[in-house]
Amino acid sequence: MSEGTEPDLAERAADPAFESLLAYLHEERGFDFTGYKRASLMRRVERRMAAAGIETFDAYHDHLVVHPAEFQALFDTVLINVTSFFRDVDSWDYLQHSLLPDSVLSTDQPVRCWVAGCASGEEAYTLAIVLAEVLGIDAFRQRVKIYATDVDEDALAHARAATYSAKDLQHVPSALRETYFEPGGGRFIVRKELRRAVIFGRNDLVKDAPISHVDVLTCRNTLMYFNAETQAQILNRLHFALRPDGYLFLGKAEMLLSHSSYFRPIELRRRFFKKIASAPRDRRPLATSAPTAFVKDSTFDHGRLAHSALMSSAAAQIVLDPDGRLAFANNRAMHLCGLVQRDVGRPIQDLEISYRPIELRAQIDEAVQARRPTWLRDVEWVRAAGEKIHLDIQFVPLLDELSALEGVTVIFNDVTQYRQLQNDLLYANRQLETAYEELQSTVEELETTNEELQSTVEELETTNEELQSTNEELETMNEELQAMNDELNGSNQALREHQDEVDRLNAFMVSVLESMESGVAVVNTDLQIMAWNARAAELWGVRTDEAVGDHLFNLDIGLPLEPIRRALRATLSDDASAPDYTDLEAVNRRGRRVRVRVTLTPIRGREGGDPAAMLMMDVIEPAT
Ligand SMILES: C[S@@+](CC[C@H](N)C(=O)[O-])C[C@H]1O[C@@H](n2cnc3c(N)ncnc32)[C@H](O)[C@@H]1O
Repeated sequence: MSEGTEPDLAERAADPAFESLLAYLHEERGFDFTGYKRASLMRRVERRMAAAGIETFDAYHDHLVVHPAEFQALFDTVLINVTSFFRDVDSWDYLQHSLLPDSVLSTDQPVRCWVAGCASGEEAYTLAIVLAEVLGIDAFRQRVKIYATDVDEDALAHARAATYSAKDLQHVPSALRETYFEPGGGRFIVRKELRRAVIFGRNDLVKDAPISHVDVLTCRNTLMYFNAETQAQILNRLHFALRPDGYLFLGKAEMLLSHSSYFRPIELRRRFFKKIASAPRDRRPLATSAPTAFVKDSTFDHGRLAHSALMSSAAAQIVLDPDGRLAFANNRAMHLCGLVQRDVGRPIQDLEISYRPIELRAQIDEAVQARRPTWLRDVEWVRAAGEKIHLDIQFVPLLDELSALEGVTVIFNDVTQYRQLQNDLLYANRQLETAYEELQSTVEELETTNEELQSTVEELETTNEELQSTNEELETMNEELQAMNDELNGSNQALREHQDEVDRLNAFMVSVLESMESGVAVVNTDLQIMAWNARAAELWGVRTDEAVGDHLFNLDIGLPLEPIRRALRATLSDDASAPDYTDLEAVNRRGRRVRVRVTLTPIRGREGGDPAAMLMMDVIEPAT
């Protein structure tokens, strides 16, 4: 499997709807997420979908078409911005106390830095603080430029504002906090001297040109979100960006085990790497010139012992004489290269070995001209029946004590097993690296989720407190209502008792009235009848319920009313001349003639209520 093409460990099955969503994001907003690790990317998109209450990628695609504001929310969720000042403090210590003093203090050249994937700026300002500590603030101002880039414009805006909370600064030692930050509005602002040296800008690591001539390049906890192929492309750019002596500083999950052709570790545990100047494998095409003339005739000396040692060597070896003829081939070479005894003495260009597995003559020329051994490594040879072997081939010019050429030996080392092991190791390393990166990115996702949960918990706590205070208010209202209710109950009871008393008095009055021998009527000042007892009903033939409420003089009871009216007026107005009684002739309803004595008695309320009068009507002798 070629480098960087194996799937991520946690790769999920390709989903056409998801791919089409990614294509849409690319077309609409220029964000190409195809190089991000699918599993983590899908998780983040699904998280956003859940927040928007959407279940399928297709539906979410439609949602984005109709609600363009959703793009920002999606990018905020996908581009994980977890960061902090002095993240992995041990590595920053090493940079400050070991790496930088050795490099930046030995010259007075400008120091160019690139913080790639800087999020909200904490890493860029940490680097600025460390450089200011190493160089002193004056030299820092004159020599240092830090380019800090990210794709996330919101994060960059935060970084440019350079304002952080006390919690953001929790890992900044207090002495540094006092030197490099000033308080303002309950927050901390990075001092101007540092801010001026840091230039923030948008740069997409996947597609934009890198910053160049960089001495210190930090790209931390960003590579791990990309798949192996995209990581390789980005590393190629980072390699280009660095000066030959430049340092690369990665995040703790990023080891570059499978990209060792670009960078070599100088402090692997703390993730510092140095640029490898050129590609390690020399795969220059072979020259096609004819074999160079050998310069000296010589006889090939093959002593018996040397001969048998050579013959039985595990490496295939041939020797050419100065004329370029095959002078010797050991057993392994005979077998490997298909040589036979009669090939000895023939010019090398007549033998198949001169062009298979590769063109040998150009390499032989090069070794002869350089007067030193040369190597061709990892030459692949597909043999008959498809068997594939790998050879490291060494070309050794054989020189005498005066450096005259006696011949050339070509040694074929079979490194197939070694190559296989190396590939296995590389593959295992890559899996390890991917797993570690997955783990780290999951940890960062969890940190983000945790922060989100934390804020939900805080919201719930606020709501809970609001509910508690509403509850307390309700309890107070309830107690007040209860007290009012008790009062009302008390008043009701008093009313009932009062009513009972009234009822009792009424009943008493009624029984007094009813038990009187005389007919009794009580009238008010308007002469309306207020009481009319049973004897009156019997005497005048008008029922109590008919009489009460009616005007006395509306009653057609056969009593001559004019003398009564006068007597009543006099009685109600407290006239002393009012007669004690008046005897009258009358005819009751049954037509009986009667003589009636009407006695009038004024009634005064105890508290001076409306006056009334009581008429007592007694039949004193029958009419004749
Ligand atoms: C987890 S943060 C790392 C922040 C900081 N380097 C650190 O280690 O604390 C990853 C950052 O990479 C950025 N990023 C993601 N894709 C990118 C891309 N294609 N080009 C540049 N930056 C990218 C994100 O926006 C995010 O700010």
